[in-house]
Amino acid sequence: MNTRTGPRTRTGATAADIQAHYDIGKEFYALWLDPGLTYSCALWDGITGPPGNTDLLAKAQHAKLRYHLEQAGVTAGGRLLDIGCGWGSLLRTATEEVGVRQAFGLTLSADQYAHVRSLGLSGADVEVQDWRDHEPAEPYDGIVSIGAFEHFTHQDMSRDERIGAYRAFFARCAGWLPPLGRLSLQTIALTDHAAHDTSVPDFFAREIFPGSGLPCLSEIATACEPYFTISRLREDGADYARTLRGWSSRLFRARKEAELLVGADAYLRYRTYLRASEIVFMRQASTLYRITLRRRSERRGPGGSSGGQAFPQ
Ligand SMILES: C[S@@+](CC[C@H](N)C(=O)[O-])C[C@H]1O[C@@H](n2cnc3c(N)ncnc32)[C@H](O)[C@@H]1O
Repeated sequence: MNTRTGPRTRTGATAADIQAHYDIGKEFYALWLDPGLTYSCALWDGITGPPGNTDLLAKAQHAKLRYHLEQAGVTAGGRLLDIGCGWGSLLRTATEEVGVRQAFGLTLSADQYAHVRSLGLSGADVEVQDWRDHEPAEPYDGIVSIGAFEHFTHQDMSRDERIGAYRAFFARCAGWLPPLGRLSLQTIALTDHAAHDTSVPDFFAREIFPGSGLPCLSEIATACEPYFTISRLREDGADYARTLRGWSSRLFRARKEAELLVGADAYLRYRTYLRASEIVFMRQASTLYRITLRRRSERRGPGGSSGGQAFPQ
């Protein structure tokens, strides 16, 4: 049970759980994230130099955003859903650079919602809404979800419960896409659930990400099977270690300002979390997947047969 937010009545992080982490204040995150406030693993292909450097971090985050937009197959004039839109960096890139006609972002954070609204992006909209409650008027051409999947189950769920929760997510995404439409998903995962020492995940669940928990790859593959084929998979755990090193060094440099904004205890908690996460990725106990999923033309039934069933909307 999570002691901060009371007993769980549902799967994954609640809005209160999310706000406990993300609504500590945009000004605090701005001290150590890149200027676009992207809060997920960057893509460092071909980028060398210190990861705490603002320009390099921004470049690697931008490369990641462009990668996912390309993988989702969303082009100029298209419609995009961003599940877990954070402070809006993907929405901005999609509308201002790619020319996406409508980009819709979902977040559970009031602070992120206010920030995205304040950007005044033409063609972009945002809602404080759980994906479970999302009911779009028309389908999307592509879906991106970066760094949100980690919040869709919580630490105490069994493997079967996790697969059920992830399957519900994939079912909804499939219902919002045309046949062969693509979902580009980025998530942290445990490399081996059974063998994993739970002390670090327990610390994260208790102190940093209440109500959340990590998948492993076999759960994602099993859960998506009736709805999607995996058409591309990148394992980029080293990229996350590098991103975390960049964030850590930036936060360390901004210690005085950070302590003024959030207090010495919160500063120390975040420093510890960023450094511990970096070590977890370096030891390969966790990794980072970028997964491109292509919607099947019809839903698969039990045993892999083509069930000919409709997708849920
Ligand atoms: C680590 S942030 C990543 C934000 C952004 N994608 C980025 O890369 O900067 C996770 C995001 O997922 C959102 N989120 C978590 N659970 C959600 C849910 N059930 N429905 C919608 N958004 C959710 C949070 O509100 C937050 O915006």
